[in-house]
Amino acid sequence: MNLVKRCVYGISILSLVSMNVQCKGEKKEEAAGTAQEAKVTDSVSIAKTVYGETEKGEKIDRYTLRNQKGMEVDIITYGGIITSLKVPNKAGKSEEVVIGFNSLEQYQKANPYFGALIGRFGNRIAKGKFTLDGKQYTLAINNDPNALHGGPEGFHRVVWTAEEAKSGDSASLKLKYVAKDGEEGYPGNLTVFVTYTLNKDNALDVLYEATTDKKTVLNLTQHSYFNLSSDFSKPILGHEITIDADKLVPVDATLIPTGKLTDVTNTPFDFRKPKAVGKDINASDDQLKKGLGYDHCWVLNNQGKGERFAASAYEPTSGRLLEVYTDQPGIQFYSGNFLDGTLPMRNGGTYAHRTGFCLETQHYPDSPNQKDFPTTVLNPGEKYKTKTTFKFSVK
Ligand code: BGC
Repeated sequence: MNLVKRCVYGISILSLVSMNVQCKGEKKEEAAGTAQEAKVTDSVSIAKTVYGETEKGEKIDRYTLRNQKGMEVDIITYGGIITSLKVPNKAGKSEEVVIGFNSLEQYQKANPYFGALIGRFGNRIAKGKFTLDGKQYTLAINNDPNALHGGPEGFHRVVWTAEEAKSGDSASLKLKYVAKDGEEGYPGNLTVFVTYTLNKDNALDVLYEATTDKKTVLNLTQHSYFNLSSDFSKPILGHEITIDADKLVPVDATLIPTGKLTDVTNTPFDFRKPKAVGKDINASDDQLKKGLGYDHCWVLNNQGKGERFAASAYEPTSGRLLEVYTDQPGIQFYSGNFLDGTLPMRNGGTYAHRTGFCLETQHYPDSPNQKDFPTTVLNPGEKYKTKTTFKFSVK
């Protein structure tokens, strides 16, 4: 009930004097309400610490977003990398659920994009070439014979500027990077903002925004590797995955789309009902052979309707459930097939085969060369805006 309504109610049952008292009392309540709201806002905090210095001498900060339900996310300004993400299990114990390193030094060494922001173009571009308005652009071949994830430096090895923000029941970190015309071979000066927002209910939003001064192509995503068991010495094969997709983007031997979209029915790629990653991963299937497991883009259902459910992962021993919502047309489900036990875990040991998986919301791979795929072209005067939410709970 608002203040006016409550005061009118006061007139009918109380004298003018008492109404005055009542209204004063109401005012107090309103004030108390405001104070309480401020407290709720404080329930999601953001704090900054110094993380280190790059080989080039750039200062890198780490921001920690934390709520009162035990979720905590660390993000560094180098690559916009999520270095740590902790959420409670079904017993209420908050633990690490993403692959990461424990030093900036390690993040600067070659690694498969652990936790990083990916751009200017996520996934592969065939032979590192595409054409816009009759002009051919050539990119570095960093995943022979193709270009992968925006190039050797991409957006994952650059330093982003950061701004903190708080509103309502959430705290945000707004990162900014300006990619120059010609950087990594792509046309146009591109201004990119990526805003990570943690809310009080264990949801992490990733909002991507960009503008360009020349026609370009763009496909931004987030490359966290999850292991919801928090036991990074074990493969993720017991996770039950759901993907709301009737179709798949099949690929050739170099993981470039064939151009067709195929039905997932009666194939190992049917995740429309929850299915353990390990159930069909070793099935005799041409696409699984090509991907060395799951390393494919699914064509999400309900396109063009804004943010909707895309995929989920449930890990039975911990009870953790991750749900992914997005407005993107596709999602790359990658089962960590190239993890090979060479990269160090945080507290000893190494990340072995399939000990983390990625759910990368995005446009289909190689879209700039595929005339039948939804466009990834961004024109001057247009605003690129897309949102993905990673929501954690237990069951
Ligand atoms: C790709 C994989 C690749 C991995 C790390 C994923 O997005 O789909 O093929 O190995 O990134 O580079």
